Order: sequence, then C-alpha cells, then structure tokens
Amino acid sequence: MNVVLFGPPGAGKGTQAKELSNYYDIPHISTGDILRANVKEGTKLGKEAEQYMNRGELVPDEVLIGIIKNRLAEPDCKKGYLLDGYPRTIPQADALAGILEEIGMPLDVVLNIDVPDEELVGRLSGRYMCKCGESYHIRFNPPQKEGICDSCGGQLYQRDDDKEEVIRQRLESYKNKTQPLIDYYANKNLLVHINGEKGINSVFDDIRVVLDKYVN
Ligand code: AP5
Ligand code: MG
Ligand code: ZN
Repeated sequence: MNVVLFGPPGAGKGTQAKELSNYYDIPHISTGDILRANVKEGTKLGKEAEQYMNRGELVPDEVLIGIIKNRLAEPDCKKGYLLDGYPRTIPQADALAGILEEIGMPLDVVLNIDVPDEELVGRLSGRYMCKCGESYHIRFNPPQKEGICDSCGGQLYQRDDDKEEVIRQRLESYKNKTQPLIDYYANKNLLVHINGEKGINSVFDDIRVVLDKYVN
C-alpha cells in the first residue's frame, strides 16, 4: 500500500499516520519528524533546516528530495509507505514520481485531509508532544495526567513552531506552495478527500474504508 497523507498543518496527518502504520504494518515516513530529529542531533542538515522551520517556511526542495530518496530506499519500504508531510511543492512531487518509478512502487492514493483554517490554529496551539512520538491535545486528545505521556510517562512539551506567529506563517506557506498539489494529484486521478473535521476515531474509520481497497 503506497500512500501520501496530505493536508494543511494541524490536519491530523501525524495522528492518523501513527495509527495507520500500526494497523496496516507499513512504515510512517514524516519529513517533519526526520528534520526535527536532525535538529535535535545538531547535524549539518538540522542546522540548515532549523532556520526555515522556526520561521514556518519550507526547507529547500533539494534537501527534502535527498531525504525522501534515501528513506524510500530502505528495506522496510518494500512493504509500502505512508508519506506524511511530503511532497509539499510541485518540484517535490515531480521528483517523487521519478523516485517511485525507479523503485517500482507507484502511488496508490493521495488522501487529502480537509480541515478549515479556523480549526487548524486551535489544534496546533493546543498540541503537546512526547519524545516517544505520541502527541496529544489539551482539549481534543488530553493525556490522563496533565503534562505526562500516557504511554511512556515522559514530560510533554510544545513544538517550537507551534507558536501563534509561526503557525500563521506555516498556513501561509501551505497556501502558497503546497495547496496547488491538490489539483496536481486530482488531475492524476489519485486524490481522495477525507473530512478531517470529525473526531480522531471517525477520521481513522473513514480512511480505513478507502485504504482497505489497496490491501493485497
Ligand atoms: P511537519 O512536521 O510536517 O508539520 P506540518 O505539516 O505543519 O503538520 P503538523 O505536524 O503540524 O500537523 P499534522 O497534520 O501532523 O497534525 P497532528 O496529527 O499533529 O513540518 C514541520 C516543518 O518542517 C515545516 O514547517 C517545514 O519547515 C519543514 N518540512 C517538513 N516537511 C517538509 C517538506 N516536504 N518540504 C519542505 N519543508 C518541510 O494534529 C495536530 C493536533 O490536532 C494534535 O494536537 C492532535 O491531537 C489534534 N488532532 C488531530 N486530529 C484531530 C481531530 N480529528 N479532531 C481534533 N483534534 C485532532
Ligand atoms: Mg505532523
Ligand atoms: Zn511518551
């Protein structure tokens, strides 16, 4: 099953991808997570990417294309892949098509998780993360104990780019550079819309109805 999870910042890509990855046993590839891991480790890539991320801008295409090419070459992707946060520009999508052709794993479907703008700001400003990869929301998905991760007991924290001004800029970058990919994939007959305004579990059920068709 070869899938792109598409949608604006805060749409629920990461939340759904984590569940889908467990359910279908295919790797969840989040370029945002890969970049944040590099920032944390202080790699050369991380140092370059951090400046863009903290401003809510996209990291340059050539950097991302390199990351995704390497990641898709790893053996676990033989089972399929669930891309989250890539592609985000037309050049990234064109590069992806070339890479997928080379490895013989064409896209099955692009899921566009639709959520209106006014809802996105609230989702992002209330999000709390754990270093184990779990994420929560103060209202929509609260942990059992405030500030503590249910699954590992770790301290929850907010992402550096979940500040109001940076959130606005991320939404702006999405509109200018990423949104055009909706038409790009619709024209290739790969796009399926998912109503992302429903609760987390309902969205998951709706996605499964679509993806079950691609289970072999
Ligand atoms: P990235 O990490 O990809 O961030 P993003 O696209 O801004 O998306 P988010 O991770 O913020 O949102 P999400 O859709 O995953 O939502 P989540 O499930 O967490 O990228 C970060 C940065 O890295 C970019 O700004 C850029 O600089 C750089 N970058 C990454 N990829 C790049 C690329 N390809 N090219 C260039 N630059 C790149 O949910 C959000 C919150 O809502 C959570 O609190 C969650 O609990 C809650 N929630 C989820 N679903 C629901 C629901 N149905 N109802 C209510 N609440 C919900
Ligand atoms: Mg995410
Ligand atoms: Zn945790």
